[in-house]
Amino acid sequence: MDVMADAVELRSITSDDFTAVIGLARALPEWFNQEGIRQITVDVERQPGAVAVANGDVIGFITWTFDGQSSGEIGWIAVDAGRHRGGIGRRMLSLAEDRLRDSGVIDLFVETLGDSVDYEPYERTRSFYRAVGFRDFKRAKTDNPGMPESLTLHKTLAPSEPA
Ligand SMILES: CC(C)(COP(=O)(O)OP(=O)(O)OC[C@H]1O[C@@H](n2cnc3c(N)ncnc32)[C@H](O)[C@@H]1OP(=O)(O)O)[C@@H](O)C(=O)NCCC(=O)NCCS
Repeated sequence: MDVMADAVELRSITSDDFTAVIGLARALPEWFNQEGIRQITVDVERQPGAVAVANGDVIGFITWTFDGQSSGEIGWIAVDAGRHRGGIGRRMLSLAEDRLRDSGVIDLFVETLGDSVDYEPYERTRSFYRAVGFRDFKRAKTDNPGMPESLTLHKTLAPSEPA
């Protein structure tokens, strides 16, 4: 395989990416149900984000939010199923962390499906978050049938070095 042709680039999301991003999310039904897709469709238009692109195709995306002070949250993150475990999720998260850190974020949060729900795909998701430095922060029962228990994870972002 031509390694250069398969290089994965990260860049900021634009409105031209929305269709591809939603298509990517739809192709991950083990993680995103109809309500999730509906919410992603709303959030990609209003949250800052980035995409991973290979050969002109969007193969990953991440969005985030910032509370205007020192907290941020990962909104959505996904990588094309054929490329899981290739380091793209880690790279996208690192880009989001850099952007949030530059805005002054110290506390980064992400919410996902809790461990009490016996569902293997999200075990992989939690393994990812824990591997990239998040620690369990809060568990809560919810009345959302798609997420009977939510797990919030937290990561402290070290401040940027002064220029
Ligand atoms: C979660 C997700 C974004 C991670 O992206 P990725 O590119 O597959 O992850 P990476 O290759 O960057 O993984 C980084 C580290 O996380 C851990 N990890 C990732 N996937 C894992 C898995 N399936 N099992 C165990 N550990 C895993 C590993 O330690 C990995 O490093 P290593 O491969 O060097 O050991 C991706 O798997 C995905 O799209 N999942 C479905 C959607 C989803 O879960 N979104 C979040 C909803 S809350």
